[in-house]
Amino acid sequence: MCNALKYILILCFFVSVALADGVKNEPIQPLSMEPDLDPRLVTLGDRLFHDTRLSQDNSLSCASCHVLSTGGSDHRARSVGVGGAMGGIKAPTVYNSRYNFVQFWDGRAPSLEVQASGPVHNPIEMNSNWEEVISKLSNDPAVMEQFDTLFEDSLTGDNITIAIAAFERSLVTVNSRFDRWLQGGLRLMNFVLIVCLRAMDVSVATRA
Ligand code: HEC
Repeated sequence: MCNALKYILILCFFVSVALADGVKNEPIQPLSMEPDLDPRLVTLGDRLFHDTRLSQDNSLSCASCHVLSTGGSDHRARSVGVGGAMGGIKAPTVYNSRYNFVQFWDGRAPSLEVQASGPVHNPIEMNSNWEEVISKLSNDPAVMEQFDTLFEDSLTGDNITIAIAAFERSLVTVNSRFDRWLQGGLRLMNFVLIVCLRAMDVSVATRA
């Protein structure tokens, strides 16, 4: 009985070593946060992402179609814009969009900054423009204080997109179960198996 258990553990050990080695060379690696994100910019971007004043009738924010609590999308086949305007395409998630090499289904925006200006101006999404948005936001001392602190030229359309893009770069699903597995679930299993085998007086060659 004890011998059978020993052989099963030895077999498990070799299988897990082989799998752990395979994972090290996987093209898929665990997701990571973008380094050097300015937390003040992220906070401002978070605020703007949830600000309905970016839409013409103050009814929609980015978060209306990219609902962060339900996977970063709106779970509709096609999004609904200002005044009930029906869009022509599904909203993708904004989570992990920092990893997209281009944005939108057809890749027409080369960066998150360029992308963020799109929905504000789109007549079937937020149906507004920078002039309108800036005139609303400039009446808000708290928002103005953040722009004054962070940007030499304070509140501009470009700076709104820079802040929103910084916030989106922080939306990374780090530490998912799959990533944790990539990061070393198998190495932990190896370790446990080695301890068990040592306890049974079986020595196995180990590597760092
Ligand atoms: C009315 C719903 C709606 C609103 C409001 C909206 N979006 Fe979107 N978003 C969409 C749809 C639909 C798409 C896909 C459009 C396409 O690919 O042509 C999209 C695409 C995107 C993408 C591209 C993701 C990818 O995987 O390519 C990002 C990023 C994004 N939106 C961010 C924002 C931001 C930032 C705002 C606010 C400034 C915003 N959205 C407001 C519906 C919306």
